[in-house]
Amino acid sequence: MTAKIPVKLGTVQETLLVPLWARARECDEPRPVLHDPKSREILHALDYDFSPLDAARASQLGCCVRGAQVDRWVRAFLAEHPEGTVIELGVGLNSRFERVDNGRARWFELDLPDAIELRREFFEDTPRRTMLSASALGEDWIEHVRAHSQGPWFIASEGVLVYFEPGQVRELFERAADAFPAARLAYDSMSPLVLRHQRRHDAMRHFEAQFTWAVGDAREVEGWDPRFRMVDSRSFYHMLYAHPRRLPAYYRYLGPLLGAVYPPLKRAYHVNLLQLGQ
Ligand SMILES: C[S@@+](CC[C@H](N)C(=O)[O-])C[C@H]1O[C@@H](n2cnc3c(N)ncnc32)[C@H](O)[C@@H]1O
Repeated sequence: MTAKIPVKLGTVQETLLVPLWARARECDEPRPVLHDPKSREILHALDYDFSPLDAARASQLGCCVRGAQVDRWVRAFLAEHPEGTVIELGVGLNSRFERVDNGRARWFELDLPDAIELRREFFEDTPRRTMLSASALGEDWIEHVRAHSQGPWFIASEGVLVYFEPGQVRELFERAADAFPAARLAYDSMSPLVLRHQRRHDAMRHFEAQFTWAVGDAREVEGWDPRFRMVDSRSFYHMLYAHPRRLPAYYRYLGPLLGAVYPPLKRAYHVNLLQLGQ
């Protein structure tokens, strides 16, 4: 029997196990919203107790609808720009390349050093695919990507910015807009309501990492810089309730009722596509 791979990750880095688990579990659904056998292979190879997540059905679906939406946006980008560049910030163990690569695009997959070390157990660099061990908040990766790609660029940052301070998110957006003209940026955002109640989150309550960035209205970021334009923004509420049978009973029945009497619930969490310039 092959020895399992130990997981030694920092507090925020450890959260990469949640979407990995979600994509792996999704393989067992009769009608998966996302098909990702690589995630299942990775999950089985890790020496980690995923059982506390067993009941996190809403997170499983949430991570997968989010991932599937970003996949659709990346596919649309690659259909328009087959030799474009995809940058994944905070890639974790995501296998988006395996799901959507077109055989011609250039990919950069960035995460913090311990996350990339673990990632290297399962993925390899190739002439079109480069893993970068760096913080998204630094500038080295920007210089590297600029020096090794021509664009246009698509930046995906899924489940990552919510762990940054508000000023850091804004600075990252500005820097990305300066360095990658006309890039598209896919990311998720939550409202202060979710931030306040984060310890009730079905998956995150098992992790130490804390959400730190929230926006009252997902479109608020358009006001940060005249170059920013929200191209698409999808509410998780609507994305989740498109699959009511997949939700635990209390979500299925109580959610629509609460959403009707308390509309901010419908705006609690979004996955967004922002154009950073012309
Ligand atoms: C919830 S996980 C999401 C992983 C991946 N995007 C996915 O959907 O499977 C958050 C990821 O953000 C990464 N991260 C957090 N802070 C970061 C930073 N400053 N620079 C780069 N990555 C960071 C973590 O290491 C982790 O992999």
